[in-house]
Amino acid sequence: MTIKSLRVSNCRIISHVELEPSPGFNLISGQNGSGKSSLLEAIYLLGTGRSFRSSSTSSVIKKGERSLIVSADIETESGQIVTVGMERGKSCNRLHIDRSPIKQLSRAAEILPIQIITPESINLVMGSPRGRRSFLDWGMFHVEHNFLSATRNYKKNLRQRNALLKRKKFSESEMSYWNKALSDAGEEISSYRANYLEELTELYQQKLSPRLGSLSEGEVGFSYRRGWRESATLCETLEQGVERERVVGHTLSGPHEADMAIKSGDGVAKNVLSRGQAKLLSVGLYLSQLSHLYRKTGKKGIVLFDDMFSELDHQNSLTILEYLIDSGHQVFATTTEGDVSLLNERDLEMFHVEHGGVSTVVKQTITA
Ligand SMILES: Nc1ncnc2c1ncn2[C@@H]1O[C@H](COP(=O)(O)OP(=O)(O)O)[C@@H](O)[C@H]1O
Ligand SMILES: [Mg+2]
Repeated sequence: MTIKSLRVSNCRIISHVELEPSPGFNLISGQNGSGKSSLLEAIYLLGTGRSFRSSSTSSVIKKGERSLIVSADIETESGQIVTVGMERGKSCNRLHIDRSPIKQLSRAAEILPIQIITPESINLVMGSPRGRRSFLDWGMFHVEHNFLSATRNYKKNLRQRNALLKRKKFSESEMSYWNKALSDAGEEISSYRANYLEELTELYQQKLSPRLGSLSEGEVGFSYRRGWRESATLCETLEQGVERERVVGHTLSGPHEADMAIKSGDGVAKNVLSRGQAKLLSVGLYLSQLSHLYRKTGKKGIVLFDDMFSELDHQNSLTILEYLIDSGHQVFATTTEGDVSLLNERDLEMFHVEHGGVSTVVKQTITA
């Protein structure tokens, strides 16, 4: 997928911006607070219906305005142009694809697979299991058709079982019905995720690891922790756990407790790696996901890379930059003006963002 043209109105500091990005690497530079991340936020919003910076979309709408609008002409891998537009405001929440109103936000995500990498992405290695589960689920959503319905089903069953546990009083047959329903959906999700992680690991070791010099091949390993004991089925685990779960009032085992364990040498990666190395590893994992998506579906995802060079040294910044350029993905990367010297020798599209105003983005090209 490639964004051929983009129009953004009333997104945070941005009043109105129109861009015709390159199908390759687009560098967005500007001072702190100039609106670089806001531009990425607008693209992300179009593809996911959510902001990556705040949980409420209303804080993303420019102060004093009623709604924000983002629209883009997107070229698919078959050369077709699809126009996706969305408007978000207090009294409107609209998504249009080729001018037809669409109800499910997931339709836009299918057309526009977006991979976002921010300074917080380091939490994929350093943070809690929740981030690693969402990471795996991003991949599943895009490559496994049944994943979305299996997840909805699992969540629904989990809510029901938890409600029963909170009630404290229930019949054995009632609980065994929900144990079975939850474990069927849970085993399905778990096998998708385990299989996905295996394929992803192979791609990471083949494509990324050899390029990430300071994280040499074979040093890093990944394994799926499914959220219940290896020696039992989920249904057995749920049956055996009922009494303890009745006390705490919720379900303690299942894919909602899963994790992706990341090792570096003999240790747990987050205890061994430096922050720079952890960032490099996180970026490597996100980029492996895009390779996997392409291999499985022929779709090229779009990369939004906010504050691209933060925490990376000169050499690693170049490694990532070159990988991204070679990958052929459309990339929108932001950087502060100080880092632009890194890119002097490369032929990239560059956009410069300046504080406020209607035409805040001026297109330039830097060549060697
Ligand atoms: N809802 C909003 N309306 C108007 N301006 C906003 C809104 N939210 C944030 N801002 C302003 O937008 C600017 C942040 O822009 P941002 O895209 O984060 O900059 P950069 O990424 O270039 O550092 C800040 O100056 C902030 O005060
Ligand atoms: Mg920013």
